[in-house]
Amino acid sequence: MAPTTVDQIRLTHEEINRKQKEYIFPSVTNYYADPVPMDHAAMQHVWDVEGKKYLDFFGGIVTISVGHCNPRVISRTKAQIDKLQHVSTCFPNEPMVTLAEKLAQITPGALKKSHFTNSGTEANETAIQVARMHTGNFEVLALRHGYSGRSSLARGLTGMSTWRRGTIEVGIVHAMNPYCYRCPLGLKYPDCEVACVKDIENMIQFSTSGRVAAFLAEPIQGVAGFITPPKEYFKMAFNIVKRYGADFISDEVQTAWGRTGHKWFGIEHWEVEPDIITSAKGLGNGVPVGLTIAKPEIAESFQGLTISTFGGNPVTCVTAKAVIDVIEEDDLRTNAAEVGSYFRRGLEELQQKHALIGDVRGMGLLLALELVEDRATKQTAPAGTNAVMEEARKRGLLIGKGGFYGNVIRMSPPLNISRADVDEAIRILDESFAAVKK
Ligand SMILES: Cc1ncc(COP(=O)(O)O)c(C=O)c1O
Repeated sequence: MAPTTVDQIRLTHEEINRKQKEYIFPSVTNYYADPVPMDHAAMQHVWDVEGKKYLDFFGGIVTISVGHCNPRVISRTKAQIDKLQHVSTCFPNEPMVTLAEKLAQITPGALKKSHFTNSGTEANETAIQVARMHTGNFEVLALRHGYSGRSSLARGLTGMSTWRRGTIEVGIVHAMNPYCYRCPLGLKYPDCEVACVKDIENMIQFSTSGRVAAFLAEPIQGVAGFITPPKEYFKMAFNIVKRYGADFISDEVQTAWGRTGHKWFGIEHWEVEPDIITSAKGLGNGVPVGLTIAKPEIAESFQGLTISTFGGNPVTCVTAKAVIDVIEEDDLRTNAAEVGSYFRRGLEELQQKHALIGDVRGMGLLLALELVEDRATKQTAPAGTNAVMEEARKRGLLIGKGGFYGNVIRMSPPLNISRADVDEAIRILDESFAAVKK
């Protein structure tokens, strides 16, 4: 079934890795000591160029929401390629407005007007630009440990030094994040009464001019290692930032499209209606898409001209609509919640067995394990994390890595996996942890 005829190129594992080293920016790092060039995929499985099959529990960084090359999605993609591939934003097109109408129906609150681009980075750029124009303010508040993308502005919004090298962006300040496992205040939830949220007001009062354009946060911090705020956090944050004039931007690049279970968007679990939502990744299931959706009065405040050559591309929009249809028709939001809790129970059992696992966290099918050398001191275990990933890969399971300290295993399989897939993943993880036992 391997599509060996694509471009008739059959480079070997070694040749691909050699050319990667020779021709690609080295800052783009690969997983594993010996990186694994991939060849083809179907639903929850991926095959490397040597024909080894993997169960994919990372989904190309939280992007494969309905399975690799899902035939119900790509049949519509292919039909659109044959019909109309590109027109640019100079012309309206049916796939774009149909997708936008659907998004207006499923986003929370009064979000109604969409702007399409090609990536999460651009989605966040657009959100900050429009919030500045809407509020007349310039300064922006983000959270430490957050990740917002790779443009200069998005790197400035990012709250981890590792992703900010060479970046100086003025007018952005970072409040402490609600990282309960490593509380920045050394407190314990719920006795802390979510004291960390007060830092937002402190930051506004002492590190800005007192008028703020936007507060941008991920409902669950993705690259940071699926750091999941307590249930009170975002309502409290919302009430603070609104008093200082900010638009509330929920960066749902990783948390949207049912990933967190039951709801379309992560922020809905915190019962907050954002002013702007940004997304990308799972909306396209592999095609490049960026979405900024805003309340009409915010969208209408965008001044001057703007275009996106590929934004709203008919092929992308048909694909994104097909992804949403599959999630709806197969009730994958419920599957994410149910199979997600089953998976979480399995991970908690592994935590009982394996001392390396310090914390199990996340929601739905967005689940992480934070690995520590010692549960009492919580000393981070980046080497152990790499070792578990290698062992899992050898046994045919792909998992992701994250966290500022490189010690978090991130898992985000397609939303349509079954309990049998989870059983296989848990069995492989169990063996992998056993193999790297300290
Ligand atoms: C929360 C979040 N925002 C923005 C981005 C940037 O998205 P992209 O890589 O599509 O530019 C990412 C990418 O990982 C992300 O996780």
